Amino acid sequence: MILKNAEFVRSAADASGFPRDGRPRIVFAGRSNVGKSSTINSLVGRKGFARVSASPGKTVFVNLFLAEQRIWLVDLPGYGYSKTSAQERQRYSALIEQYLDDDMENIHRFMLIVDIRHAPTADDRLMADWARAYHLPLVVIANKADKLKPSQLRESLAAVRAGLAVDETVPVFAFSAEKHTGRDDVIREIFSGLRE
Ligand code: GTP
Ligand code: MG
Repeated sequence: MILKNAEFVRSAADASGFPRDGRPRIVFAGRSNVGKSSTINSLVGRKGFARVSASPGKTVFVNLFLAEQRIWLVDLPGYGYSKTSAQERQRYSALIEQYLDDDMENIHRFMLIVDIRHAPTADDRLMADWARAYHLPLVVIANKADKLKPSQLRESLAAVRAGLAVDETVPVFAFSAEKHTGRDDVIREIFSGLRE
């Protein structure tokens, strides 16, 4: 299963570029280089659709894609890249904050992407706490699962869950944007609860 008819609509540098059409939004957040753009590519089944950056921190705008002619895919700038200047980081966090404050009721799923190989960072935890505080429908995508042995998955998922302090109501999926592991689980989440 993939998302069909995906198209790039625009990049938004601030809230004036955010969609205001009431369509559901699937927001992808996560550290720089964790694979947000790659995950979107996997979900739409097209390599190089959302750009994949060789140098972390490259996505500085909110990139907006429309899939199935009715679902916004929102590629947020990555956070927590240490080499980004303090000023840039400030701009990122202001943008993300603005994004999340704006028209929040249309966020159908808040996809927090983390690296399955490592314990979540303080920034990851902050995002999860934030999602919880605003009652956003949080889903955790534990990406780069292809880098682990199958025997390590269970323990790694438990570590992700513990590090983010999410309870059993929050789905945590082992995922690989490269191998498309977990893609059906994520797509099912996207469609669940959407009006026909
Ligand atoms: P920013 O836009 O800079 O915040 O990064 P991003 O989160 O969009 O990450 P991006 O999709 O650009 O991927 C970063 C790097 O990780 C690229 O080199 C990808 O090829 C690699 N990558 C992403 N997902 C996977 C995965 O599931 N497995 C492996 N092995 N590599 C991955
Ligand atoms: Mg990106």
